Amino acid sequence: MSIKHLRLEGKVAIITGAAGGIGEEAARLFVENGAFVVIADVQDELGDQVVASIGSDKACYKHCDVRDEKQVEETVAYALEKYGTLDIVYSNAGILGSLRGILDLDMASFKNTMAINVCGGATMIKHAARAMIARKIRGSIVLTASIAATRGGLAPHAYTASKHAVLGVVRSASRELGVYGIRVNCVSPFGVATPMSCKGVVLKARDIAEAALFLASNESGCISGHDLVVDGGLTISCNVFPIDAK
Ligand SMILES: NC(=O)c1ccc[n+]([C@@H]2O[C@H](COP(=O)([O-])OP(=O)(O)OC[C@H]3O[C@@H](n4cnc5c(N)ncnc54)[C@H](O)[C@@H]3O)[C@@H](O)[C@H]2O)c1
Repeated sequence: MSIKHLRLEGKVAIITGAAGGIGEEAARLFVENGAFVVIADVQDELGDQVVASIGSDKACYKHCDVRDEKQVEETVAYALEKYGTLDIVYSNAGILGSLRGILDLDMASFKNTMAINVCGGATMIKHAARAMIARKIRGSIVLTASIAATRGGLAPHAYTASKHAVLGVVRSASRELGVYGIRVNCVSPFGVATPMSCKGVVLKARDIAEAALFLASNESGCISGHDLVVDGGLTISCNVFPIDAK
């Protein structure tokens, strides 16, 4: 009988945007790997349901709108009070935002996308790192970026700009926080692929969660400032040369 290796045994994690989608999947996977998880989101009912299905001995829910720095700070304090430490933050909350073209840009919507996708992540890094440094915790901070963090034309303008900025914050913060042994990385998913576009490989939330688990765990102990692209190899090729792959 093989004994499962728990890659996050006893670790405490906050995951934002974990009431659904990729964040929820990550919460389940982190708990499966021995972590205690604070699910932070604005969808309270869904968040409570996720906790109920995972088990309230391993997970809890905290309302946190990542646009509000006070709520982010309170969420970090909540994790510390409930579990006594904070080893991992997976800042994953994000929105796609408005689909309008550049000629018809709605600036309020643009700013809201930036507030959630960029400022939310930066604020999480700030307060998580403060807590980790004060307690001498060599923690891991992971953000969800996107393949739109390095390319244009794949997503709406504000989203593309915001994810480019997420990558910038990750790279920049990793430099400063490396001094304290705190790592900062991001995962960059492609959109959910169809079998037609991917010749049978379909990207699932679990694939992104697995990448986040790797970056959260000690197995990536020397990796920081990295953008781990999870796209089945789609974006590495510009696909102009016709190769007959049967
Ligand atoms: N699904 C994809 O194909 C894809 C591709 C690339 C990147 N991403 C990124 O992955 C992350 C998760 O996306 P998803 O696909 O799971 O989407 P999702 O909509 O299923 O989940 C996003 C979660 O973020 C929460 N959220 C939104 N605004 C918030 C706020 N202000 N404060 C706190 N929580 C908030 C939502 O309530 C939701 O639970 C996002 O950052 C997204 O940009 C997703």
